[in-house]
Amino acid sequence: MSTTIEQAPLQVGDRVEVEVGPVAHGGHCVARHEGRVLFVRHAIPGEQVIAEITDLGPKGRFLRADAVQVVEPSEHRIQPACPWSGPGRCGGCDFQHVDLGHQRQLKAQVVAEQFSRLAKIDLVELLGAEVVCEAVPGDDAGLGWRTRVEFAVSPEGMVGLRQHRSHEIVPVDTCRIAHPAVQANSVWSDTDEARKQRSGIEAIDVIATQAGVGVQRTPEVFSVPAPEQQRPPVVKESVAIEDNTWAFQLSARGFWQVHPGAATTFSQTVLSWLDARPGESALDLYAGVGLFARGLSEAVGRDGRVLAVEADRAAGGHGAQNLSSTRQATMRRDKVDRVVAGLRRSNESADVIVLDPPRVGAGKQVVGDMAALKPRAIAYVACDPAALARDTAYLKDVGYVLQKLRVFDAFPMTHHVECIALFAPVGHTGD
Ligand SMILES: C[S@@+](CC[C@H](N)C(=O)[O-])C[C@H]1O[C@@H](n2cnc3c(N)ncnc32)[C@H](O)[C@@H]1O
Repeated sequence: MSTTIEQAPLQVGDRVEVEVGPVAHGGHCVARHEGRVLFVRHAIPGEQVIAEITDLGPKGRFLRADAVQVVEPSEHRIQPACPWSGPGRCGGCDFQHVDLGHQRQLKAQVVAEQFSRLAKIDLVELLGAEVVCEAVPGDDAGLGWRTRVEFAVSPEGMVGLRQHRSHEIVPVDTCRIAHPAVQANSVWSDTDEARKQRSGIEAIDVIATQAGVGVQRTPEVFSVPAPEQQRPPVVKESVAIEDNTWAFQLSARGFWQVHPGAATTFSQTVLSWLDARPGESALDLYAGVGLFARGLSEAVGRDGRVLAVEADRAAGGHGAQNLSSTRQATMRRDKVDRVVAGLRRSNESADVIVLDPPRVGAGKQVVGDMAALKPRAIAYVACDPAALARDTAYLKDVGYVLQKLRVFDAFPMTHHVECIALFAPVGHTGD
């Protein structure tokens, strides 16, 4: 007679030794223990680690864990540049322990896996090349790039950054991914006086803005809520492409690419891929303060037209200002969903479309309405590869196929990655 020894289910705080499997979307790797799936942070594929359970996951479908001890390290493991990264510390970075080249390989693997699983597309087969995650110019080997940092403030006035998936504040005195101008400000001051002055404040935003091309970035510091409920300041950014320099105003709390090289790199990619011609009509959907609309309006010229659509009141207002020097560009403060559905109902068309939706993506309805406008090219800027893969499948259903894809490491040390994809109608031969 054999005896089965029942294993007690794993609980938060339990430690198990596991072999670390592939990287997954979200900054962790997959491992298995007695049939259970563990998402392990601070690990690298191929390692043998002691994983400590940190969370039981929804309905017990998986467990979350931190690699608290490395039994057999990966050749890609390095000493983190930041003393505050690691299990139980600041939750801002996921990959400080991985060499930068390998971080990028892991991100490329995540993008390929999301396309395979959610769009049923083998990117190598479709595009004829391995997915590569490219550096964005302007950081210091993956450090010193974050131009916008929101510091948390405790009720006692202590400044820090939050732990992973937690409201706990880690009292950091440096942030190695923050831009040098952010690091140089006095927000770290931890004197009694500084703490007292911060009482009642929930967060402090420090942003390194760029007044003009080639101009030193300077930090702007403001609090949320501010002592006198003051509005966040209006700040200036700019983008220079070839002979053009475009200036943008925006609210200091409004959306702008965080990496100092991202706005220019993404604009260059979108504009060259869409290759809008004089007299054409273009849409900039989820336009923010008009980053892509500004360049598109230059390309279509005075005989063309550009419609930028942005739902946020403040961003739309600044966008209208930023586009006011070009007669052919209009900013509509409305929801993309409503605007593209209306254009479709009116049998409108658009020659080219750029969309840059929030993390959830555009969704089936917006994709269908966009396709009905019969654009010859669609450039999709995506901060979440899962949403991009889902929308790629919807685009395929309505006759648009992926032609090109670039993957950018616009957030080094974190798991985040930016993709730009070009779609054209089926039958288009590409170039
Ligand atoms: C990722 S940002 C892109 C902004 C801009 N393209 C840029 O690169 O600076 C997404 C923008 O979409 C806006 N947004 C989110 N949902 C929207 C919707 N349903 N309709 C219109 N705009 C929306 C947000 O306010 C935000 O400005």
